[in-house]
Amino acid sequence: MTPIKSPLAPRADATTVLAHTDLHGRTAVVTGAASGLGVETVRALLSAGASVIMPVRDTVRGQQVADELARETGNAAVQVVPMDLSSLASVRQAAAAILAAAPRIHMLINNAGVMATPQGLTADGFETQFGTNHLGHFQLTRLLLPALLAAAPARVVSLSSSAHRLSDIRWDDPNFQTTPYDPWQAYGQSKTANALFAAELNRRYGPQGVTANAVHPGGIMTGLQKHMPEGEAQRRGWIDENGVPNPAFKTPAQGASTSVWAATAPELDGVGGLFLEDLQQSTPLDEANPSPLFGYKAHALDADSARRLWTLSEQMIEQTGQ
Ligand SMILES: NC(=O)c1ccc[n+]([C@@H]2O[C@H](COP(=O)([O-])OP(=O)(O)OC[C@H]3O[C@@H](n4cnc5c(N)ncnc54)[C@H](OP(=O)(O)O)[C@@H]3O)[C@@H](O)[C@H]2O)c1
Repeated sequence: MTPIKSPLAPRADATTVLAHTDLHGRTAVVTGAASGLGVETVRALLSAGASVIMPVRDTVRGQQVADELARETGNAAVQVVPMDLSSLASVRQAAAAILAAAPRIHMLINNAGVMATPQGLTADGFETQFGTNHLGHFQLTRLLLPALLAAAPARVVSLSSSAHRLSDIRWDDPNFQTTPYDPWQAYGQSKTANALFAAELNRRYGPQGVTANAVHPGGIMTGLQKHMPEGEAQRRGWIDENGVPNPAFKTPAQGASTSVWAATAPELDGVGGLFLEDLQQSTPLDEANPSPLFGYKAHALDADSARRLWTLSEQMIEQTGQ
């Protein structure tokens, strides 16, 4: 089957992707929208006329961003809600506030994330990256399902990463309790979880009109790299000695484009369970000759793992009493 693609160039920016899309009357929820790709995602959605809710943990910065974007786009339909994804209690409170504000949600873009954090635990005792990037979004999405189903057709976009290649789900020790902590394995696991979650959400709710896809946005220098030790970004070739990003990297506005395409493109109507990057459906990685820039490992969309992760995530959350 021919992979689904946008007619635009792979590096088109998010506002260009939505230049001919009218989102008046449609509501989007975008997590992590006070910085990086989230800002550009909201900018493009507001420019196209959508109403946007921004659940953020820093509400002062979130409100500043919302005010700036409202002014710049001329669309004031943007609202900030406090939410810390590393606390299931906070996620529950945020979901209640969002549902009160928006009985119908047409687009949920699970964009927030942390990368390569020092070893730590969320408020509920989960490894920071798995707990924040995956379990927080898992719970938020489940709590928002009534509004997604009420808006159907609705779409969920789950920000994964090429870093999913670094780790499958560590079924025996997702929280690094019995094995030494590795910040990149932990990030990789969380980004695999983000992709598997989209696959299973789509399997469960696609038939009811709530489709879900995973997105790798590309490499973009943002606040995400703040936990990398000094010099590591240079050693990895992400920036040169003057701090200039590698030309293969995208701008934040380009990095947001596959998210907004996934949330709106007519070519993805009713289509879910895919891994998307560069404004197109990605392809399985050729393990013998892996491209450093494009393609996903089989473990990211494995249907059995996706089911198993859903059950594991439910159990982990149930054990907290949240
Ligand atoms: N940039 C890249 O090269 C790249 C590549 C692949 C995938 N991604 C994915 O793209 C997404 C966006 O990343 P980005 O590059 O835009 O990074 P970013 O600028 O650091 O944005 C991430 C956002 O997530 C928020 N966040 C982190 N922890 C949170 C928590 N506990 N509760 C609520 N919000 C929280 C951050 O808020 P604070 O500012 O308050 O921390 C921030 O606004 C992430 O999921 C990332 O994994 C990025």
